[in-house]
Amino acid sequence: MNDPVLYLKQDKIGKTGSKDIIQKYFHLVNQNESEEVTIIDIGCGPGNVTHDTLMPLFKNPIRKVVGIDVTEKTIKFANATYGNEKLSFEVLNIGNVVPEKYISFFDYVFSFSALQWIRDQRQLFLNINKIMKPNGQMLFSFVAQTILYDIFQSVWRRPEYAPYITDFYLAQSIFQKSKEPVKEFRAILENAGFEISMIKLEEINAKNRSLIDFKEFFASLNPYYNKMPDHLKENFMLHHLEQVQRDAEVEGPNNYYMKFNMFVVYAKKK
Ligand SMILES: C[S@@+](CC[C@H](N)C(=O)[O-])C[C@H]1O[C@@H](n2cnc3c(N)ncnc32)[C@H](O)[C@@H]1O
Repeated sequence: MNDPVLYLKQDKIGKTGSKDIIQKYFHLVNQNESEEVTIIDIGCGPGNVTHDTLMPLFKNPIRKVVGIDVTEKTIKFANATYGNEKLSFEVLNIGNVVPEKYISFFDYVFSFSALQWIRDQRQLFLNINKIMKPNGQMLFSFVAQTILYDIFQSVWRRPEYAPYITDFYLAQSIFQKSKEPVKEFRAILENAGFEISMIKLEEINAKNRSLIDFKEFFASLNPYYNKMPDHLKENFMLHHLEQVQRDAEVEGPNNYYMKFNMFVVYAKKK
């Protein structure tokens, strides 16, 4: 994440309905624990969803909530804005080796609109399994397929930008072109040691978006925007907006909408 403040300001495109998904599916989460619980929110971004939406839903006493994200700036913002004695934020890449202190540590794992960034999904879910206690629960959603990734591809592959793109598939779900995403993903989760109670694709529509909304969204979250040299930044942005005009569906002047097919999963560690 490039800019947590801008990301919070434009709460329309990037969050792909984290709050709605939590409100719709949190009832699946079992809260019969008698002891204080431990919770992790993976890819927490600025921390608002962790603090404002997730934590108030817990009836059990909470021992510790950890929000993790790969971007230092975001974690600094989250700690300064929402950190307290129970809730803290850490820079941690869940795709890498998990720290010893978190092995079999968490009762609950949550993650919203983040796990599409990790391309080695097998390793990712083995890692998540490792940090959970036996019978630990996880509820998450992430983008499986969206035209937004095609927009990224069209712009990033232009000859003037391509030399600065280190990974053309960064931030893109490995399921983008899959014909049977649910079947493929189910197999990954089962092989990683999860018992799945719910796995589905849910269509989220980001509606009524102006080009300004898209501009703020790209500036806050596009992984290559900050990495472009200064003389290319403006055009890089303009080319994304041109591509939105070409590819997104239009409902009226300066009024676009974009569909996101999200995985929504509730599962337990076996
Ligand atoms: C679209 S934001 C979602 C933020 C928040 N969960 C929400 O629902 O608003 C995705 C976040 O995932 C983070 N992220 C990407 N790869 C990650 C990784 N390997 N480990 C942890 N966080 C990651 C990004 O830095 C970004 O802040």
